[in-house]
Amino acid sequence: MAMTNLAQPIYLDHNATTPPLPEVVEAVCETLRTAYGNPSSGHRQGEPARRLLQRARETLQSCLDTSDDQFVFTGSGTEANNLALRSLARHGSCIITSTIEHSSILSSATRLQAEGTAIEIIAVTEEGEVDLHALRQQLSTHHHAAVSIQWINNETGVIQPIREITALAREYGALVHIDAAQAIGKIDTAVEALAPDFLSLTAHKFNGPAGVGVLYAKQPELIDPLCVGGGQQSGWHAGTENTAGIAGLQCALELRYSELHEAIAHMAKLRGTFEQTVLDLCPWVRINGLKDRRVCNTSNMCFEGIEGQALVGRLDAQGIYCSQSSACTTGRPEPSHVLRAMGLSEAQAYASVRFSFGVTNTQEEAELAGTVVATEAEYLKRIFT
Ligand SMILES: Cc1ncc(COP(=O)(O)O)c(C=O)c1O
Repeated sequence: MAMTNLAQPIYLDHNATTPPLPEVVEAVCETLRTAYGNPSSGHRQGEPARRLLQRARETLQSCLDTSDDQFVFTGSGTEANNLALRSLARHGSCIITSTIEHSSILSSATRLQAEGTAIEIIAVTEEGEVDLHALRQQLSTHHHAAVSIQWINNETGVIQPIREITALAREYGALVHIDAAQAIGKIDTAVEALAPDFLSLTAHKFNGPAGVGVLYAKQPELIDPLCVGGGQQSGWHAGTENTAGIAGLQCALELRYSELHEAIAHMAKLRGTFEQTVLDLCPWVRINGLKDRRVCNTSNMCFEGIEGQALVGRLDAQGIYCSQSSACTTGRPEPSHVLRAMGLSEAQAYASVRFSFGVTNTQEEAELAGTVVATEAEYLKRIFT
């Protein structure tokens, strides 16, 4: 079957990263031009940079709906997760996490375990939800444990029962870290009500710049610093702050949260159109993960009988960009650990592809992408069977 290039590429990999909005690019550039001073400098050139950090903290506070303003700026979501896990390891008797966490959590846990921290990894249901019974069991076995669970899974988009998880952890006096990298700007993220001890996020998942993470810390004195040095950020994370990136984060947050419900409705509509188009043309395709508790923008589809990588490759050649499992692991010839943990066979995991929409996608793109994906899937199905 001949492949045709689309007039404009369609980017459907927003869970990997999102394009920075023009306002964000401008905020970053403007900061580099005018607020380049070191926020730790006592002279007047440091003042705009200090103000900018303060403004970013206020925006975080208001968007996350929390009365605390203890936010540590890091170099990525991965760094924020590493910092959180290290801090949990210092104060908890054991870290309880799940099989479907991002590699920044699972690899941190593996390293901490090698250094002597007890780690328990709980299972998830077939629909990709953390098993609350298993969590309770671990919490009742390990007194003063610490829990690290993601809010939304980056591969399936399944929204974890985070309220129940934090409530359970409280019941057992356990510290809680939430990896909210995929939640910010895609669901209502009122943090005050959840009262986690730590929560991490990363700007490039909501049209901010890459390389800017944040760790919210209810009690920052619990932080065990990853980086020591000049004592910036009260010594919780030493190193001169990335003020331009933080300005980009602040701008992206403000833009998204000023129209959060519209953004969510927009992405949900696109995802709905896309899924309906694919499923109408290919009724044999299955959606991976809980259908009614999935974040608005994510569709993880199992094209049973075909190689997902072949589909991703053919779509790439036509100008539709999507991925198999998470961006950090796409280069590796391994099936998704998330889908395997949900009970999919190796073949089913290899046959699965993630499509993730963003605020910059259009209805026409969703319709066109659905048709092209279905056509390519049918073509590959004929070849593979
Ligand atoms: C759930 C989750 N946590 C953490 C991260 C890591 O964020 P970063 O890419 O900023 O290191 C990601 C990125 O894909 C993610 O999806």
